[in-house]
Amino acid sequence: MRILITGGAGCLGSNLTEHYLSQGHQIFIIDNFATGHRELVPQGMDRVQFAEGDVADRAFVEQCFADFSPSHIIHGAAAYLDPDDWESDAQTNVLGSIEIVRAAQIHGVKRLINLQTALCYGQPDQVPIPVTAPTRPFTSYGISKTAGEQFMLMGSVATVSLRLANICGPRLAIGPIPTFYTRLKAGKDCFCSDTIRDFLDMKDFLALMDLVMLEGAPTGIFNVSTGEGKSIKQVYDAVADYLQIDGGDVPIVPPGTDDVKSVVLDPSFTETAFGWRAKVDFEETIRGMLTWYDAHGVSAIHSHLKAHQNLMSRSFP
Ligand SMILES: NC(=O)c1ccc[n+]([C@@H]2O[C@H](COP(=O)([O-])OP(=O)(O)OC[C@H]3O[C@@H](n4cnc5c(N)ncnc54)[C@H](O)[C@@H]3O)[C@@H](O)[C@H]2O)c1
Repeated sequence: MRILITGGAGCLGSNLTEHYLSQGHQIFIIDNFATGHRELVPQGMDRVQFAEGDVADRAFVEQCFADFSPSHIIHGAAAYLDPDDWESDAQTNVLGSIEIVRAAQIHGVKRLINLQTALCYGQPDQVPIPVTAPTRPFTSYGISKTAGEQFMLMGSVATVSLRLANICGPRLAIGPIPTFYTRLKAGKDCFCSDTIRDFLDMKDFLALMDLVMLEGAPTGIFNVSTGEGKSIKQVYDAVADYLQIDGGDVPIVPPGTDDVKSVVLDPSFTETAFGWRAKVDFEETIRGMLTWYDAHGVSAIHSHLKAHQNLMSRSFP
C-alpha cells in the first residue's frame, strides 16, 4: 500500500507509521507539529516521505497527493489545543478534512480512513453508546470533528470513520494515565473526575486497522472500543499500585461542563462487520503504558478540556 498519514507525527499517527513500515508499505506523512513531534518522523528511510504543512492548505495538500499518489489515506490530523479557539479547530478539523477528501477523490484513492472522536455523541442517552446514536457534539473539538467526518463520508471514495475510545499505547501523552503517572511520581496531589471511559489497547486498534484497510472491507461509521467502562478512580488506583505508592484518599470531583460523564462505546456492530474483538484487558493495557513511560518518559500533556489546564486529571475521550 501507499499510505498517506495526516497527523503522522502525533500519537496515533506515529504508531500507525511504525506499524505499516514494519509491514513493508510506503508511507507519506503530513504534519504541522501543532501537537506532534518532529522526532517521531522516521529519518533516512527509503519508504518514508514527510511534508511539513497544513491539511487545510489546498495547494500543499494537492502537491503531496501529486508527489506520492497514495492508495490509502489515514486522516489523523486534528486540532484541539484551545477549546475557545473555534476558528483553528474549524480550520483543521472541517476545512482540512474537506481538502483531504477532495484530493482523495481527484487522485483515485482506494480507501480513506478517518479517525473520529467519541465526543461526536455529546451527552449520550444510552451507555454503552451504539453507533446508531445521534451525534450531538457540544464542544469546539467535537463539533468541528463531526462536521469534518460528515464531509468525508459525503465523498465518493470508500470511506471508514472510526469513532475511537481512549486508545492507549506508546507515546500517549494525554489523559489520566500519563497525568497520574507524572504527578504521583513527582509526589504531587491528584484528584479524579467522576467519569467513566473505555480504554482500548493500541495492539487491538492496530489489529482492527489492518482489517479496515483491506480493499472491499465494509465502509461507513464504526465504534472502536472494548465496550467496558472503567472509572478514572480505577485508573488512578492502577497507576498508584504500579508505582507502589499509597494513593490515599484521592478526591473525586464532578465532571466539568465541557466533559461527559460516561463515554463507553458499543463495539458490537464493528465486531460483526470485521470479525474483530478487543483482546487486551484493562490491567494489561495500563501496565503496558506505564512500563513504556518508565523506559521513555512522558513527552507533554495536552487536553481539549477547559478545566484540564488547571486540574490535569481529566480524561481524553
Ligand atoms: N488518541 C485517542 O485515543 C483518540 C481518541 C479519539 C479520537 N482520536 C483522533 O485520532 C487522531 C489522532 O489523535 P492523537 O491522539 O494521535 O493526537 P495527536 O495530537 O498526537 O495527533 C494529531 C496530529 O495532527 C497534527 N496536526 C494538527 N493540526 C494539523 C494541521 N492543520 N495540519 C497537519 N497536521 C496537523 C498534530 O501536529 C499532531 O501530530 C485525531 O484525529 C483525534 O481526533 C484519538
